[in-house]
Amino acid sequence: MASKLQAVRGMNDLLPAVTPRWHAVEQCLRAVMERHGFAEVRLPLLEPTELFARTIGEVTDIVEKEMYTFLDRNGDSLTLRPEGTAGAVRAGIEHGLFQGQLLRWWYQGPMFRHERPQRGRYRQFHQIGAECFGSPAPELDAELIAMTARFWSELGLGGLRLELNSLGSREARAVYRERLQDYLRGHFDLLDEDSRRRLDSNPLRILDSKNPALSELIAGAPSLPDHLDAASREHFDRLCELLDDLKVTYTVNPRLVRGLDYYGRTVFEWVTDALGAQGTVCAGGRYDALVEQLGGRPTPAIGFALGVERLIELLAVSGIDPVQPRRMWYVVSTPGPCRAQALRLAQDLRAGDDAPTVLVDHAGGNFGKQMQRADKAGADVALILGEEELAEGTVTVRLLRASEPTQRRVPRDAVIATVARLASEEAS
Ligand code: HAM
Repeated sequence: MASKLQAVRGMNDLLPAVTPRWHAVEQCLRAVMERHGFAEVRLPLLEPTELFARTIGEVTDIVEKEMYTFLDRNGDSLTLRPEGTAGAVRAGIEHGLFQGQLLRWWYQGPMFRHERPQRGRYRQFHQIGAECFGSPAPELDAELIAMTARFWSELGLGGLRLELNSLGSREARAVYRERLQDYLRGHFDLLDEDSRRRLDSNPLRILDSKNPALSELIAGAPSLPDHLDAASREHFDRLCELLDDLKVTYTVNPRLVRGLDYYGRTVFEWVTDALGAQGTVCAGGRYDALVEQLGGRPTPAIGFALGVERLIELLAVSGIDPVQPRRMWYVVSTPGPCRAQALRLAQDLRAGDDAPTVLVDHAGGNFGKQMQRADKAGADVALILGEEELAEGTVTVRLLRASEPTQRRVPRDAVIATVARLASEEAS
């Protein structure tokens, strides 16, 4: 027997029961970003594998073990994008767009990481992200972070905490890295397997370890903020001042290091306790050296990405439904010539942006059956076309959610006005 076909593990179908929630969230965030001058970019899902190794870093979890990489028919190594920043930098360089002016880009779409699937962690997941290129100013950091704060307020979400840190300059980080390595080597027997592996390649990531057995060791480690270079310290202090001024609340988390190598100076994460282990909803930071490192003109940059699945889940556990209910009208008709009239009526009523959803019953049966289906579909108005209506050129308009049975037979061109009048009578 053939095996049952199923979606790839960690890759979810988004069915119509949930897509309205996705649309509502996407629309809300898109509107906020447009108000901040961001323009959308749509970039390929596949990029040369080398791009990710050179941006995210050879010794990160993503590049070491999570990428979907394969050889195409030409023998080129391609990778399904695990994130959006690398592609944005590649595209900006390729199209000669980094010319000193400020670019504000946003993007959305699926990303792919071969992680262990669990609540809030998938192998195909979706990000909405933004990248700004062309300014090193802490004012830009503050504006971008304040924009993310606005996402939550516009969605009606409370309870997300902003954690903030500075990774300093590359040179300062190198000094710190050595100090940290010395300290950790001194406690080698206390390290777990993962941390021992990272000790040489990426010791800062040990600070990020979720292993409770390491928490005491990590708490006693030299602190990154104590090693900041003066310019990064000034940048960070200014950012904190600006956030205070914008009334964006944050906590400084000196252990926040992020899992991608391209960051320097500002890093931030929005976290919640409401989602279990995968509590980071949105994360980002500065990556001032990356454009140049990939062969472009020196171009400071900062960005973030949020996990749409996590955000949608957070809305659900917070009891927030972002979906605006749509008006829905349902056309029922008797078999024969009324069917064509029903189609034509629906066609006319759907004109214009503010038109309601109009469904035509195609399953037939008597009016009773059709009305049941109207109710089940969630319609608030039924439009009835029977023999008498056909002969008169009228339609019977019935409100389905009214406190009292309410219906009127009116000329076809009076349907919209009649529904509006009946609805306002019902409301008053
Ligand atoms: P990231 O921290 O790897 O950063 O991912 C950003 C967000 O994507 C996470 O905070 C989380 O909400 C979501 N996410 C990541 N992995 C998964 C997964 N396996 N399943 C579900 N959600 C996930 C970046 O990707 C950077 N490119 C962000 C950035 C943009 N930095 C600067 N510009």
